[in-house]
Amino acid sequence: MNTMSHLIAPSILSADFLELGRDVEMINASEADWFHIDIMDGVFVPNISFGMPVLKAIQARAMKPLDVHLMIVEPERYIADFAALGSSVLTVHYEASRHLHRSLQSIRLAGMKAGVSLNPHTPVELLSDVLGELDLVLIMSVNPGFGGQNFISNSLTKIEKLAAMRQSSGHHFLIEVDGGVGLNNYRSIVDAGADVLVAGNAVFASSDPVKTISELKR
Ligand code: DX5
Ligand code: ZN
Repeated sequence: MNTMSHLIAPSILSADFLELGRDVEMINASEADWFHIDIMDGVFVPNISFGMPVLKAIQARAMKPLDVHLMIVEPERYIADFAALGSSVLTVHYEASRHLHRSLQSIRLAGMKAGVSLNPHTPVELLSDVLGELDLVLIMSVNPGFGGQNFISNSLTKIEKLAAMRQSSGHHFLIEVDGGVGLNNYRSIVDAGADVLVAGNAVFASSDPVKTISELKR
């Protein structure tokens, strides 16, 4: 049973980068819980987003935890850097981590919550032997790389399966869902077992982002 109400993590990828300070303040003033920060290297995913200098600038203004989603190869090379930049949650991709168990331990040792993200084709069952090593699982409900894509409906089944695995294993971790989340579908995603919703386009393309964030919390 999920008694805690779900969290909202607006994705900075959809912000206006010429007005980044304004958009960070908007999130500070809203009912949002976390900042979702997408780091892409142009190798693991077919897009390049932004890196350390931009994260540093966000960190200086952000009043809420930074939820950093690494879409990069060899993510273990940068764990210490993201800790130094003030990340609260650091999520690596299952598909990019040859020694996932070690990476998760390193993230926790560096003082952050350890997350693993699964691409749409990666079954949740593959995490069964590391459930005790992680604090969060990020289910990608689009193919990673871009904002504004459509939610892949099979993700609901994956969330349900993962919630059942959590229940039967007795381990505690958050289930986060990223990609194509909006006012039209967030309720079914929460009902399936999600604890944290990432929303990029739904928030930033809205005429009233603060209100949209509040609606996504209801
Ligand atoms: C996609 C990123 C997402 C993206 C979500 O690779 O991981 O965080 O910003 O954007 P929307 O909510 O527009 O699908
Ligand atoms: Zn993301």
